[in-house]
This record gives sequence, structure tokens and C-alpha cells, in this order.
Amino acid sequence: MAAPQRNLEIKARDPDPRRSLELALALGAEDRGEIAQRDTYFARAQGRLKLREQQPGDSELIQYRRADGAGPRVSDYRVVAAGDADALREALDAALGTLVVVEKSRRLLLWEGVRIHLDEVEGLGSFLELEDPGEGDRLDALRAKLDIQEPIAGSYSDLLLETPELLLRAAKSAMHNGYAPHSDFKVGAALRTPTGAVYAGANVENAAYPQGQCAEASAIGALIAAGEREIAAVAVVAEKLDVCPPCGGCRQRLAEFATPDTPVYLGGHQATTLGELLPLSFQLDS
Ligand code: THU
Repeated sequence: MAAPQRNLEIKARDPDPRRSLELALALGAEDRGEIAQRDTYFARAQGRLKLREQQPGDSELIQYRRADGAGPRVSDYRVVAAGDADALREALDAALGTLVVVEKSRRLLLWEGVRIHLDEVEGLGSFLELEDPGEGDRLDALRAKLDIQEPIAGSYSDLLLETPELLLRAAKSAMHNGYAPHSDFKVGAALRTPTGAVYAGANVENAAYPQGQCAEASAIGALIAAGEREIAAVAVVAEKLDVCPPCGGCRQRLAEFATPDTPVYLGGHQATTLGELLPLSFQLDS
């Protein structure tokens, strides 16, 4: 079995990518130009599994595990050439499910063996990343020269999964499938769990009106059926309302699996927490 390769890595937000590029070039970094990359992250993987499609360049399947924390951290990875990227993406999506797709434009530079990535990530902004296949002394030197202040933890996929947009998009697409012939009021809800997985649901009405079910209840059902038990974030949208706060009953339903700090995104730019929506919630233990 092929042993994984190892990198030391650091990532930070980059307030001024043009300055970073100038600094890197002034240090004599070799400019390898711009690459358009599309990474599909798959769910239910141990560590991380992503299919990278890039232009220019060949598609590759990348498996990696990275230490937690923001500082220089070790990443063990394997890269496998992916001949038929479309077929591989479909097979992995069918088997594991897709977590998130990250699209970015990457300016790649090389300085004494260290890879410098100036990344423009869709939906997230500008970042600077250093990857050192060596012992880390080069990385430390370069970090100082490029004036990298506050490294951040997590991958682009984590950051993207934490944005309200992704969850709101999932809620919206469920909403379009809602079954609401009686009220003509379609609702969609999406729940993110701490693993990053997203479960969505729509309202399901019935001719016997009280048998109808809210979108939040449908989404909770999907989450539980998948074996999950915790809600890390909630989004609720309605076709005919810009901001659709969950009904009282659904606040209590959500509280069963969430905490008062759990963010609730209500479309537009309205964000609140479950604690704000349901203060003094009923619990069997205090
Ligand atoms: N509805 C939800 O799906 N979630 C809520 O939090 C409020 C109301 C649905 C139930 C019904 O199908 C329709 O909206 C009109 O009440």
C-alpha cells in the first residue's frame, strides 16, 4: 500500500492578494500561473475525500487527514489520478453523497520547495495558503516574509458549510418540492449537523388538515433516519414570505436536537438563534 505523503500547511485570509503576489515575486518565487479548480467533497468519508477537477491540469482524487488547529499543521494525503472524472464523481456521489463543492481560482507560486497558493474562493473571498513538504523551516521563513498574521483552522469546505447561503439554498430547493395544495404556502427547512451533513425537508399537507406536517419536522425526520442526533444550524424559507420564522411547535421540535446558541437563518439577511426564538424552552431536566 502506498504510504501517504506529508505537508506542513498554513492558511489565512488575505486582505490584499495583489500585495501578496508582489511580495512573493519580489522574493524570487516562481510563478506557475492561474488554475481554475473545482473540488467536490464527499460525505461519510474518513478524514476528507475530494475530487479535484482543474484547468489547466488533470483530474485527481485526493484523500487527506489534517491535524486540527490554525497554526502550521500536518496533512497526510494521497493523490490518485482520476481518468474519467465525471463517472468517478457520479459513483462517489451515489455511494457516499456530496458534502459541498468548492470552486476557486488559484495562483500557484513556488519558493524554495514551498507552494504558495493565492486563492480566490467562490462565496468566501481571498486566501493565502502555504504548503511545505519539508520540515517547516521554509514555511516559517516565508510566513514572516509574506506577513501572514492570523492563520485559520478548517478547510474551504468547512468554511463554506458554515455560511448561511449553503443551508438556505438547500432549504429553498426542498421548498420547491413542498406539498401545500391546501394552504398554497410552501415551506422548506434545512439542518446542518456537526459532521457537516445537511438534511432538508418540505411541508407535507393533507386533506385532513391537522395531519399536515411542517418542513422542519420533515427535515428532522431525514436527520434522524440518517443516524444523526445533533443540529448545528437551521435554515427556514417560505415561497411567499421573505422571512419565515418557524412556528412555535417547530421551535420546540428543533430544541430537542439543538442548543440555545444554534444559529437559525431565516432567508434574506435575517439570522437569529434558537435561544432567541424559544427562551425558557421546556426540558425534562433543568
Ligand atoms: N409551515 C411549516 O412548514 N413550517 C413552519 O414553521 C410554519 C408553517 C407550513 C405548514 C403548512 O403546510 C403551511 O406552512 C401553512 O401553515
